[in-house]
Amino acid sequence: MASSGSNEAWGSRIGLILAMAGNAVGLGNFLRFPRQAAANGGGSYMITYFIALLLLGIPLMWIEWGIGRNGGKYRKGHLPGMLAAIWKHPAAKYLGVVGMIVPLCVMIYYTYIESWTAAFAWFSLTQDYWGHTTQEGMIGYLRSFQGVPVEGMTPVHSSYTPYAFFAGTLALNIWVLSKGISGGIEKLAKIGMPILFFLAIILAVVVLTLPSQPGIGTTPWQGLEFIYNPDFSRLDEPSVWLASAGQIFFTLSVGMGSLAAYASYLKKTDDIALSGIATASTNEAVEVVLGGTIAIPAAVTFFGVAGAMAIAQGGSFDLGFATMPVVFQQIPGGQFLGVAWFSLLFFAGVTSSVAMLTPIVAFFREEFGFKREHVAWTLGAVCFAFGMMHVHWLQHGFLDEWDYWAGTFGLVLVAVLEVIVFVWIFKPEKAWAAIHEGADITIWPVFKFIMTYVTPVYLLIILGWWGWTDAIPILLNEKTAGGGVVTPEAVPYITLSRAAILFIAVTFLVLIRAAWKRNKYDDRQGFVEVPQTGEAA
Ligand code: ALA
Repeated sequence: MASSGSNEAWGSRIGLILAMAGNAVGLGNFLRFPRQAAANGGGSYMITYFIALLLLGIPLMWIEWGIGRNGGKYRKGHLPGMLAAIWKHPAAKYLGVVGMIVPLCVMIYYTYIESWTAAFAWFSLTQDYWGHTTQEGMIGYLRSFQGVPVEGMTPVHSSYTPYAFFAGTLALNIWVLSKGISGGIEKLAKIGMPILFFLAIILAVVVLTLPSQPGIGTTPWQGLEFIYNPDFSRLDEPSVWLASAGQIFFTLSVGMGSLAAYASYLKKTDDIALSGIATASTNEAVEVVLGGTIAIPAAVTFFGVAGAMAIAQGGSFDLGFATMPVVFQQIPGGQFLGVAWFSLLFFAGVTSSVAMLTPIVAFFREEFGFKREHVAWTLGAVCFAFGMMHVHWLQHGFLDEWDYWAGTFGLVLVAVLEVIVFVWIFKPEKAWAAIHEGADITIWPVFKFIMTYVTPVYLLIILGWWGWTDAIPILLNEKTAGGGVVTPEAVPYITLSRAAILFIAVTFLVLIRAAWKRNKYDDRQGFVEVPQTGEAA
């Protein structure tokens, strides 16, 4: 039986590509990538990074577009429906629940981090952090903004400030979502992406022309050299391979369910082969060329190579939110450049976070027939409730837990499911044909072999290795999700954080069951094809 619900489409091909690129290009490109590259040996990391891109990222990009476009034939913009459309088994829809938990959880904490970028753009404009000219001073300022008590420092802002920025950022996301695919997300991408490119290019040029500092003596080019000089010395460390694979997932948004959700609004005659690789290439150009050219070279110029490495090994956000503001305070036009840097992060973030809620909105609209605006604003209230926990308990590792279980482990889990269902159950021939339906290019056939054998084996090795070295020790509280030591005081917060994820999981399982009952779906029969209006021109 067909379900009620949305009947949306992308307005134009350029709009689709920009939205897909916006989905992928995010905080990961400018904050996570430079930090990870520097912390994992620069050149060695880049070798493993490109291997993961070829064997995991690009094949999974096509698989997600394929699974999503196939789901769209039955008007299924969410993973439970997409999996059930292929695998006619009652378990398929329930397995798809990870494709609901992951994007919702990641969206909530991601939007919170995005709200820091909005706050810091404002603080740059008003020169609020001016005077905190050392790395330690800026870290103190950042922690104080986040509501983390800092010894010997009176709080810089009211304790409501982070809540206010979070509420505003979330409201903007929800407003865009409430306007729909072409009226909201596509418009945002058409405005946000050119601004993002413009700001990133300005900042990259400024950083590369920074003069070497007295007493330091290093140049921005030495930062580039550190990242890009091939180096084989750390290739024998599994942690370097795992870190780069995790980055490929996060940066391309594979395993988040959001690419598939976007692809579900395409017609069967639309190309996905060329568009998929165009999206991956755009993301990689932004990450490797622009993302690699801003934060690390700036840090190397002002703190030396060893100093920059030490910063990268420190807190996840120190490079972007402490080091960069220290640099801005010491260069001409720093106020403007600070606004540019944090606005760049904000645009990168918002075009990704709206994507993460898309599968959830699709689920409620398609399966329960709710109105888009109602779904969006109700979800906004739910996100705010959970988000407040992140704001309130950041210092207790609440966010780190979600970032690990949803934003790291969860992505690989979703990808494993997608490969098994789309390539193995659907069969490689059909998967390959589905990716080539309406295609503007023929993909190099070696990728069929990679998708069928190499990607799944690579994924299972990662999952197994992570399970052994991280997931089990973290679950047993032998170490924190952030890599630290678990203190007795932190245990209740860690437990609460996991309970919140579990609550979301159980709620979605119940909702999936209710949706299937309501629409009288027959798992063994599958869904009826639904004609789609509109087509990416
Ligand atoms: N792909 C998005 C990012 O890189 C989630 O931030």
